[in-house]
Amino acid sequence: MIVVTGGAGFIGSNFVLDWIAQSREPVLVIDKLTYAGNVENLQGALGTSQVSLECVDICDGDRVLTLLRKHEPRAIVHFAAESHVDRSILGPGEFVRTNVNGTFALLEAARAYWSEISPSQQASFRFLHVSTDEVYGSLGPNDAPFSETTPYAPNSPYAASKAASDHLVRAYHHTYGLPTLTTNCSNNYGPFQFPEKLIPLMILNALDGKPLPVYGDGLNVRDWLYVGDHCAGVRAVLERGRPGEVYNIGGRSEMRNLEVVRAICRLLDELEPKAKGSYAEQITFVRDRPGHDRRYAINPGKIERELRWQPRETFASGLRKTVQWYLRNRGWADRVRDGRYRDWMKRQYGDAGAHEAP
Ligand code: NAD
Ligand code: TYD
Repeated sequence: MIVVTGGAGFIGSNFVLDWIAQSREPVLVIDKLTYAGNVENLQGALGTSQVSLECVDICDGDRVLTLLRKHEPRAIVHFAAESHVDRSILGPGEFVRTNVNGTFALLEAARAYWSEISPSQQASFRFLHVSTDEVYGSLGPNDAPFSETTPYAPNSPYAASKAASDHLVRAYHHTYGLPTLTTNCSNNYGPFQFPEKLIPLMILNALDGKPLPVYGDGLNVRDWLYVGDHCAGVRAVLERGRPGEVYNIGGRSEMRNLEVVRAICRLLDELEPKAKGSYAEQITFVRDRPGHDRRYAINPGKIERELRWQPRETFASGLRKTVQWYLRNRGWADRVRDGRYRDWMKRQYGDAGAHEAP
């Protein structure tokens, strides 16, 4: 079996749903169920005997170690994190706690568990750490995309906390021989993304007739990857990646923010036309994010060459699927935005599953 931390979040829940669609191997989700964790994302999966959930904070190393000893996983796939840059600017403490101290506690639990299993189990064990391209900092317009050897230069508290966690993972491989793998991925989008991030926020604000708040001049560039392609990349690294290695995952799909928002408006104009005018009329320019990185771009050559991974979706096909998903799942979005998803979790998990948004 495998352990997936953060499996009730956006990418983690997509990973678990894709996993059970392709494999019969059991999954234990370890998730604190913060504001970003939503058990409803896993509804279909939790109804089966293949997937179980423990509402546990990764900072609680003792509880994590007890779970590892009980379930004896062959791998840990570590998604759990505080993940939103704007929140890290308002309150960096939680980012250091979960992303740095939490990853440290998880590594310590994994190392203790790993030291107790048989040599053959030790050889096949994997600790896969999911990270971000934001650790590499910001690119100029003509700079080459980030590669696995680009020096770290994180700019936001979020990026700095992820960079610190990447360094700890690297050190646990070099010092203790723990078979770790690290992936650094570009911006994801797709089903179940919490509507604080650019793409779901714009889709839902547009449908609600609200302003579409573009930061600064809207010319910041991100490299977009459909979440299902990211999950396939993580599975490829888990099965075929070399321990101790880093793999950058990206969609070769650089877009300016304003182009992304306009593309969303065009899709909505086609799929859910307004009585009058275009959704693009709701675009407004707002004050820029402090320290806003100008451009991210990933060179995914290594994972393409060594592990034969390729994204299946183009930005156009992935964005269409995403807009269609949000149109079909207005109830999910309503429950997330009015907080009802937390009531449901409280009923399921008691106070342990009712953390307030920071
Ligand atoms: P998310 O915020 O949607 O989900 C995070 C999950 O982690 C939630 O279920 C939350 O409850 C859980 N969690 C938070 N703190 C925890 C703790 N202390 N203990 C246990 N669980 C905790 O995040 P996401 O967008 O799904 O990102 C997943 C991972 O991928 C993160 O590590 C992030 O840095 C990385 N990543 C994200 C993107 C992106 O575009 N979203 C891109 C590259 C890398
Ligand atoms: P976001 O989804 O927060 O991801 P990240 O900061 O990790 O790249 O933002 C993507 C881009 O969109 C980023 O350049 C900031 C910008 N942005 C806006 O212009 N308006 C918004 O309301 C948000 C949330 C983001």
